[in-house]
Amino acid sequence: MASNRLPRVIAVTSGKGGVGKTNIVGNLAVSMAGTGKRVVIIDADVGLANVDILFNLRPEYNIRHVVSSEKRLEQVMVRSKHGVDIIPGGSGFADLTRLSEGEKLNLLSEFETLADKADIILVDTGAGISANVLYFNSAADECVVVATAEPTSITDAYALMKVMSQEYGTRYFKLIVNMVESQKDAKRVYASLSNALDKFLKNVVLEYLGCIPFDRQVQKAVQKRGLLMDHAPDSAAALAMDRIGVSLEKSRRQNGGSLTFFMNKVFQAGINN
Ligand SMILES: Nc1ncnc2c1ncn2[C@@H]1O[C@H](COP(=O)(O)OP(=O)(O)OP(=O)(O)O)[C@@H](O)[C@H]1O
Ligand SMILES: [Mg+2]
Repeated sequence: MASNRLPRVIAVTSGKGGVGKTNIVGNLAVSMAGTGKRVVIIDADVGLANVDILFNLRPEYNIRHVVSSEKRLEQVMVRSKHGVDIIPGGSGFADLTRLSEGEKLNLLSEFETLADKADIILVDTGAGISANVLYFNSAADECVVVATAEPTSITDAYALMKVMSQEYGTRYFKLIVNMVESQKDAKRVYASLSNALDKFLKNVVLEYLGCIPFDRQVQKAVQKRGLLMDHAPDSAAALAMDRIGVSLEKSRRQNGGSLTFFMNKVFQAGINN
């Protein structure tokens, strides 16, 4: 079927910052690329982009140059040694949803070129519930929420799902619990979130994708501007991320939207609000 060839757009998001989204996106991308998929990462944390750091890349251009028509998307995209293509976000850049009509059209037609270059597009969003984050989440086929066992992270993850469901009608989320001490802790986080959803938000479904243990190797890898998968592939966290990557890749696509549809939704949301 033709729609199966469209890239699957997966947003990785949180609520609270610093819960591990960027590390998860980088490592999941490598794990998915290892299964033969063509993976593209969009660094949509345009204020504080840092996907490129984890891949130890120093891109000359970023999404801002595409917006301003200085560069084509393919000139901005950088390929990691794992074969993952990265669209750098560029730091200190304003909200992608607040572009002029001309800039939006530019970006839209450039993103269309990804349709036959990617199987999976992972979107690393910023933290919080800013317009930029919400638009990317609402436009993606799937929304993967990352939380830790900290009460603040759980509350913020709930708040994010609440606003997504109330404002954008998103009904389906996937959960990764990061930096846990035990599987039991992760299940507790999942139970408390899904209980709250059942109680206060009818018809919102949260699927448990898996958990990643707290592992100092992640920090050591970051300090070396590297990915855990390269730095310590046999570490507990790397193995957990790999399992999650493989099962996410195998899981059924939820919405089946196209990339044009994705970007259109991002922009449309920006116009309506
Ligand atoms: N499983 C883990 N074990 C130990 N440390 C981790 C783990 N996952 C992430 N970290 C550490 O947590 C910090 C934040 O990670 P990361 O930058 O990926 O989070 P983020 O959610 O993308 O943050 P932001 O909201 O600022 O974009 C990093 O220093 C990273 O090394
Ligand atoms: Mg990040």
